[in-house]
Amino acid sequence: MTASYLISASILSADFTRLGEQIQEAEKAGVDWIHVDVMDGRFVPNLSMGPFIVEACRRATSLPLDVHLMVETPEDLLEAFAKAGATNLTVHIETCPHIHRTIQCIHELGCKAGIVLNPGTSAQLLEPVLPMVDLVLVLSVNPGFSGQTFLPEVMPKVAAIRSKLDELNSPAWLEIDGGINRDTIVPAMQAGARVFVAAHSIFDYPGGIAAGVQLLRSRLWG
Ligand code: DX5
Ligand code: ZN
Repeated sequence: MTASYLISASILSADFTRLGEQIQEAEKAGVDWIHVDVMDGRFVPNLSMGPFIVEACRRATSLPLDVHLMVETPEDLLEAFAKAGATNLTVHIETCPHIHRTIQCIHELGCKAGIVLNPGTSAQLLEPVLPMVDLVLVLSVNPGFSGQTFLPEVMPKVAAIRSKLDELNSPAWLEIDGGINRDTIVPAMQAGARVFVAAHSIFDYPGGIAAGVQLLRSRLWG
């Protein structure tokens, strides 16, 4: 049975001394995807992980690896991340002047193609490529760090993209990323998001990873 909602656990808040164990704990707790935040210290003010970590995640789990590329010139890195085992390669529209070519290239590498929008970027920019993508990711924080506060002003954009996808009868996933917790997951779902990324509220949850995942799931499925 295909689940109507998915949880993508962002390892940005994981304990990297025990990365494999933490991923396996999240998998056991019922997360659907593992989200890997790639940052280059230029497009966003932080440096994080490269293909080497994606490759380590690939050895730790068979769950889909949801790779979010917060980098300038992502097209230079697509092949390395695909080879490392990425399932979804999601690029920022703000970094892709030749977005059709970039999406095509992701597909040729055998990955699902995602497009992500910063909170300040208009959904209209997506329209020409919406029929080509497998996933749209809306950021509900300015990217760079986990543990930031959810921006509710992004919800009308989520709703507008949901309507467009429905109009197109598109099976593309609509994903939301940033500040997702027990409270914010509900308005995000009501606005039309179907995939929920969470770092802090899973890997830093005081009761542990399983309890954090369970709480998010209970807000979606009751
Ligand atoms: C933000 C990243 C997010 C981040 C989310 O730059 O794209 O994926 O890990 O972290 P939380 O869930 O803690 O806001
Ligand atoms: Zn992310």
